[in-house]
Amino acid sequence: MAFVLSEEHERELTEILSRYPNKMAACIPALHLCQNANGNWLSPDAIQFVAERLELSPAHVKGVVTFYSLFNEHPPGKHQLWVCRTLSCALKGSGAILEHCQKRLGVGVGQTTADGRFTLRTAECLASCGTAPMMQVDKTYYEQLTPEKVDQILAGLGKG
Ligand code: FES
Repeated sequence: MAFVLSEEHERELTEILSRYPNKMAACIPALHLCQNANGNWLSPDAIQFVAERLELSPAHVKGVVTFYSLFNEHPPGKHQLWVCRTLSCALKGSGAILEHCQKRLGVGVGQTTADGRFTLRTAECLASCGTAPMMQVDKTYYEQLTPEKVDQILAGLGKG
């Protein structure tokens, strides 16, 4: 089914486009708008929609979507876990944290649990190096992680 925006989101897109010197420059905010309007992911139709509205090739827009890890090409779980894997976190044990998350959730990186509750991802530095190892869950940072803290966080999100 073709992707369409609600009237309200159309107004938002018009406002976004008015803020940029050209349509290409509005690609990222337009994608964020469409992702939010589409249940937090960008279907092929949504990518096509953005390409048409911004007068870009679908390949260009797809390239942006695949480059930035905040864009989802598939419906994500209700909660998204981003385990930082960059140097400070790696030195402080992010590998073990990631392994623990994989074991507890029963999924690999980039996968969503069968019940649709959790998507596990890795992230590059999230600018919280002083409190490594850390992960972002939805919009919240959890820092100085241990496997036990991960268990508490998951329990708080309903993972028994
Ligand atoms: S290296 Fe993990 S937050 Fe910077």
